Amino acid sequence: MPTYQKVKGTMDVFGHYARVKEKVSNVLKAMAELYAYSPFETPMMESTDLFQRGSGETTDIVEKQMYTFLDKGGRSLTLRPEYTAGVARAIVENKLYATSDLPIKAYYEGPLFRYERPGLGRYRQFTQFGVECVGEDSAWLDAETLLLAVESLYFLGFRKVKAKINSLGGKASRDAYRKALVEYFRPHVDKMCQDCQRRIDTNPLRLLDCKVPGDKEIAKDAPSILDYLVDEDRERFEKVKAYLTMLGVDFEVDSGLVRGLDYYSGLVFEISIAGEKDYGAVLGGGHYDDLLGELGGPSLPGVGFAIGIERLIASYCDEGLDKDADPGLDVYLMPIGKEAFDAAFTLLVETRLNGYSAEMPAKEGKLNSYFKKAERAGARYALIFGDEELKAGKAQLKDLNKKEQIEIDLTDLEHELEKHIETEGEHDDHE
Ligand code: HAM
Repeated sequence: MPTYQKVKGTMDVFGHYARVKEKVSNVLKAMAELYAYSPFETPMMESTDLFQRGSGETTDIVEKQMYTFLDKGGRSLTLRPEYTAGVARAIVENKLYATSDLPIKAYYEGPLFRYERPGLGRYRQFTQFGVECVGEDSAWLDAETLLLAVESLYFLGFRKVKAKINSLGGKASRDAYRKALVEYFRPHVDKMCQDCQRRIDTNPLRLLDCKVPGDKEIAKDAPSILDYLVDEDRERFEKVKAYLTMLGVDFEVDSGLVRGLDYYSGLVFEISIAGEKDYGAVLGGGHYDDLLGELGGPSLPGVGFAIGIERLIASYCDEGLDKDADPGLDVYLMPIGKEAFDAAFTLLVETRLNGYSAEMPAKEGKLNSYFKKAERAGARYALIFGDEELKAGKAQLKDLNKKEQIEIDLTDLEHELEKHIETEGEHDDHE
């Protein structure tokens, strides 16, 4: 028999990890809702030219990392390597800018695909949670977006969160900067990698995020974009920084931060979580002036970010924030004897109908083994009854944490459970 293994760079999600993923996702969605964002979904595959045009033809993502294939109708499709281009496409295609109040505030979560070398915090299929705020241009919205990113991490329990920010300016600033970069790199470019040699003419900004060690060394002394910002862009960046300071966001300006996608203009940012292991940036984002225009829509700006969920979970677990992720069970039923076991099915269904999560053993067994199963399931209460007790309509309800036990009336199960069971939610409220 052949054996099968998952594709390199992908993962199976189950057990505790699946619980943590669910919990983290719920927190992120709740935070986005607090900031007036609404859910948004786009297809997992798009036409290849959307990413070429939207994300940037000469980026690593588009040149080297896309899962592109021809479908049976001969169309070139690509599994999305990022969300922003797809969300912008959906806004243009559905003319949401004409029918919704602006800005459109969308949040999304789902799998992405990049053909990268798998490593710590790096997968070929990974998950992003992200937001896009599209249609209005203001320094406040830039700052608010970064605030949401930082607050979301804080709300999840992270305390040492530092944002790196930079400004890539608008077209005029970037044109001047591009010239300066070409002048700087030209004398070195022969020693640099093939990509850099090609990109110096097509997209010199990309030389700044080349991953080749020797090239990185050369890029270190390149001119800073901040020296080439025109007045308007400089003022905008100052205003964003002032808002961030007012909002108490801890940030550091890193003039070398350029991000790996072409649509950015103005504010860009990245956040890493300090810890024992370096998973790389947990989150990246920024402002874009004309992505919608590039895709055939009106020239409307946007700002957004995306969190790498697997990297987030790795740091979350390293910091021990995942302890309460498993909700456990409210009640584990423990029928002792044949009649009790048969009656347990009805009681199980009744307990669940009353809103308590419940389970019972699949086969009759010893009380000891039931307690072990209950413990593994994280049950808070055991409902124990034998054949005789069942006839009398009674059972023992045992609080498995406090080890206290009381007798309850099975003929009025609904009220008995309501009176005596403290569910997880109530428990949290008391804390
Ligand atoms: P990005 O920086 O390419 O930005 O990706 C955002 C985050 O996704 C990264 O910071 C990282 O945590 C995670 N990530 C990226 N690649 C991988 C991988 N191979 N394995 C695991 N995690 C990964 C974007 O995608 C932009 N669309 C963000 C954005 C939204 N900008 C504006 N709006």
